[in-house]
Amino acid sequence: MKKRFLSTIAIAGAAAVALSACSSDADPGASGSAGAAGGGGDVITVGFAQTGSESGWRSANTDSMKAAFSAENGFDLIFNAADNDTAAQIQAVRGFINQGVDAIVIAPIVEDGWDDVLGEAKDAGIPVILEDRTVSAADDLYAAWVGDDFKAEGTTAGEWAATTFGDTATKMVVLEGTTGSAPANDRAAGFDEAIAGTKIEKIDSLTGDFTRDGGKSVMEGFLQKYGVDGIDLVFAHNDDMALGAIEAIEAAGATPGKDIQIVSIDGVHDGMQALVDGKINYIVECNPLLGEQAASLVKSVIAGDTVEKQTFAVDEAFDQAAAEAALPDRKY
Ligand code: AHR
Repeated sequence: MKKRFLSTIAIAGAAAVALSACSSDADPGASGSAGAAGGGGDVITVGFAQTGSESGWRSANTDSMKAAFSAENGFDLIFNAADNDTAAQIQAVRGFINQGVDAIVIAPIVEDGWDDVLGEAKDAGIPVILEDRTVSAADDLYAAWVGDDFKAEGTTAGEWAATTFGDTATKMVVLEGTTGSAPANDRAAGFDEAIAGTKIEKIDSLTGDFTRDGGKSVMEGFLQKYGVDGIDLVFAHNDDMALGAIEAIEAAGATPGKDIQIVSIDGVHDGMQALVDGKINYIVECNPLLGEQAASLVKSVIAGDTVEKQTFAVDEAFDQAAAEAALPDRKY
């Protein structure tokens, strides 16, 4: 059962940024305030293992989390960003366990490899909430997950491509997200299913690691290999890589959005502006404002309440006209 909370968290997200200074940016290995708060007082000490700072989406997600896990809301947040390094992220979680935090929140960089450390948290009696990305580990190793439906995002993007190009022979390249990550895996699966049976041909697909620089350099390689005339469509797994691809296409003397069309996922401000400007053709939203819902889950789990195992955000999709209408009120 999907739980819908978009309007609630959008409002909360707007109020949140002003409170973000209350979070402590501490390394989990360093001596922090966890000991003082973790002993059963009113304050809930939470270790949050973020992926890194790879994209505009990630910045919005971090802001939302820091705002929701504020001192005003009864939290002492220990924040760690792993710079997209899976081993460092697992080490950060072990640090939180050693510190004896009350709960751990993880945005897992990749799906695999979590069984051991999640088992260690369980043995230590520390509940784990996943936010944003999912893991392949058994679901009794974490209390709950909140995030977006990545496969549905890929399907929606693929349906747009199938409707726009399906009957015409179309050469497509893909800018993949981080290899092994849930959004890269699921968006690819949803998109591929949606374009099956059309005349869209995937001629190449490489990871740009969800970064603008990564998207730019992968697209430069595709343009060198196939030429401007050999590519009709780019599917970028996020807006940042699409924005990098725009730079590469323009540097090659072509017009993004016309000579080479682009469909991407996220709906961050810069991506939406590029859609309004006609440089991206379609964007499927991935809502990053997950903080309020994650904080609520942590409080419920610590209180011993029953919670939904999975909570999905609601995502919209935008063509140029819809982006023009939405941009002035965009929260991220
Ligand atoms: O996990 C969500 C994805 O991670 C976003 O689409 C991307 O921008 C971010 O890096």
